[in-house]
Amino acid sequence: MPIERCTLGVSGLDQCIEGGLLRGSSNLVAGGPGSGKSILCMQFLVDGAVKGENGMYVSFEEDETQMAQNFSPFGWELDKLVKGGKIMLKYFSPEHVATYLKAPVDPLLDTVRQYNVKRIVIDSASGYEILFDSDYSRRVGLLKLLESLKKYGATILITSERDLSTEAPNFIEFLVNGAIVLYNTRQGSQRGRGIEVLKMRATNHTQKIMPMKIDKKGITVYPDELFFQA
Ligand SMILES: Nc1ncnc2c1ncn2[C@@H]1O[C@H](COP(=O)(O)OP(=O)(O)O)[C@@H](O)[C@H]1O
Ligand SMILES: [Mg+2]
Repeated sequence: MPIERCTLGVSGLDQCIEGGLLRGSSNLVAGGPGSGKSILCMQFLVDGAVKGENGMYVSFEEDETQMAQNFSPFGWELDKLVKGGKIMLKYFSPEHVATYLKAPVDPLLDTVRQYNVKRIVIDSASGYEILFDSDYSRRVGLLKLLESLKKYGATILITSERDLSTEAPNFIEFLVNGAIVLYNTRQGSQRGRGIEVLKMRATNHTQKIMPMKIDKKGITVYPDELFFQA
């Protein structure tokens, strides 16, 4: 079967991963607070929405109003995309956790089916993991979630605040097909933003850590420049 790609819609980045993520794959977006994980994820959904692929943004921490507010400075006309049913913002509140504990996957799958969702963001993995009370059930729960979503052919981004460069690998890194790491690192008296494709199955991806910027258009990556200046 030929490999189908799903663009991320981040200028400079798609060309570093042979045109996009593997369609139907699950991918981790890791990085510290403020490194741009949520922005990258929403940019991916906006890219899909304008190409006719519906998206769903799942948060366990922020409600729909907060989510919409976070992304309102960007020139994506997110309101329109949400009103038009092209992007679904889904909040799973702590009050509902007890209900979802029994079947945490089902409410998500209902939306995926109903709206023919092709791109999914889970922000964040730790938000999902607190639904479970043991390492074992956490692992099974996450695996079940990713496998069920894949059945619908959806391409998934899942965020994590774990520092993949220093922390020992966690089961989630082995479950996913790809991992992108974002940096917001101190360089002298200021911070610089960088991005790295750590792993991506079946993809000849770049090995460079590349600089990136965030502005009103979202994230732009500079693949011909180096993050660490000599
Ligand atoms: N319009 C903007 N222009 C430049 N930088 C921005 C803009 N909006 C947000 N940012 C930067 O993006 C950061 C938030 O990115 P976000 O994706 O929410 O981070 P994360 O999800 O990794 O915590 C902010 O802390 C700020 O530095
Ligand atoms: Mg975030």
